[in-house]
Amino acid sequence: MKTIIIYYTFGGETRKEAKRLAGELGVGTTIYEVKEAKERSVLGSLVWGCWHAMRRKASEVKPIKVDLGSYDRIIIGAPIWADYPAPAFYAIVERLPAGKEVGLFFCSGGGDSSKSKKGTIELIEKKGCKVTSYRDVRTGKGIVKEKSPK
Ligand SMILES: Cc1cc2nc3c(=O)[nH]c(=O)nc-3n(C[C@H](O)[C@H](O)[C@H](O)COP(=O)(O)O)c2cc1C
Repeated sequence: MKTIIIYYTFGGETRKEAKRLAGELGVGTTIYEVKEAKERSVLGSLVWGCWHAMRRKASEVKPIKVDLGSYDRIIIGAPIWADYPAPAFYAIVERLPAGKEVGLFFCSGGGDSSKSKKGTIELIEKKGCKVTSYRDVRTGKGIVKEKSPK
């Protein structure tokens, strides 16, 4: 089954989990990081980021240069902000082609995204896709922004 892991990270933890998972799934698994169009500050994540996450509003992301239609299974990874997936997650969901198997994993400090889980699954189903897995990853990390490369 042709699989892609597509994810967004703010602090680096979701990337770590995406890479671990890619190793587990084996060679042939594509891994792709989605970046937001505008670099977000910690304050921006706390104020607008959480506000948009809770309203399930997609952020603007850099062009996604991979053809999601060519994969059978799409695994999406994202951090949890204020109990909801971070805004870039919704940007990925908007681009989902119908008819795909979708796996989800969410990284959060406490490892609990139960408040938003049902609505998140419904959102994917509305795209005509089937959620085949949903996993919480407890990172134990708080509000952390990854250092941008120089
Ligand atoms: C704006 C913001 C809001 C957060 N809200 C929550 C939360 O509601 N629950 C939680 O367990 N962790 C919360 N966290 C912690 C992150 O989910 C945690 O650090 C996660 O590992 C981040 O993944 P990342 O490093 O891929 O960005 C929040 C972090 C940020 C930056």
